[in-house]
Amino acid sequence: MKKDLSYLLAKKQNHQKIVALTAYDYPTALLEDKTGVDIIFVGDSVGTNILGYDSEQEVTVDDIAHHLKAVRRGVSQAYILGDLPYNSYETPEQALDNAKKLLAHGADIVKLEGVREKVIKHLIDHDIKVCGHLGLLPQTQQQKRVQGKTFEQAKTIIEDAIALEKLGISMLVLELIPEELGQIVTEKLSIPTIGIGSGRFTDGQVLIVNDILGITPRKLKLAKTYQDYQTLTAQAIQKYKEDVEQNLFPTEENVWHMAEEELKHLR
Ligand code: KIV
Ligand code: NA
Repeated sequence: MKKDLSYLLAKKQNHQKIVALTAYDYPTALLEDKTGVDIIFVGDSVGTNILGYDSEQEVTVDDIAHHLKAVRRGVSQAYILGDLPYNSYETPEQALDNAKKLLAHGADIVKLEGVREKVIKHLIDHDIKVCGHLGLLPQTQQQKRVQGKTFEQAKTIIEDAIALEKLGISMLVLELIPEELGQIVTEKLSIPTIGIGSGRFTDGQVLIVNDILGITPRKLKLAKTYQDYQTLTAQAIQKYKEDVEQNLFPTEENVWHMAEEELKHLR
């Protein structure tokens, strides 16, 4: 069964957690889908995590589309979210063109950061599903500092969340805000909230797959590392290198032979 917005909404209403995770390639998407991840994010986090960019600002719509295509091929059930990257939704028209491109390449919904009323309204008027993003906005805030810790800041985030829901967004990502604020926003909205570094009470959680697997070498308070990809992969590559250098690979098991009959004419 293909998961859709009503499935995700029912999870919120039944107090079942929504599981979201990023993926940028076919084999990872295949595994996430098989495991039952509800929403696969093809985020602009692809830039710093996969493409070696210095910042999210370098990510283009073509980058997202390219990775969306790969992810889409691996998915049969999960709902797929594509990020509209920095500078790709400056005007309602530009946003619509780019959102259509992401949908054409496999996204079910597009996400954009902040309260961009005219842009969001234009997308929704054209039947495009939109996910909001409040709290830390990586496309415009390079400093990864917790947002909404003061009364005034928290009040703004709550008001923005309510405004976004009124505009018609289908879900909301909350990034790097205090747990209490994550809970308040989640209770005030009828659409699902997906948190990253925003506490235990959002309707769902999302993490960057590199962080849960230990692909990107860093320790983040907001994440949990379930596998040491760096060490395991370095060991595997080292072993392969040694095997080739010491003629331990390939072995008899890995090769094909010719019949003696054919061979004798060649020698
Ligand atoms: O870019 C991304 O992957 C994201 C999520 C982690 C929220 O925006
Ligand atoms: Na993002």
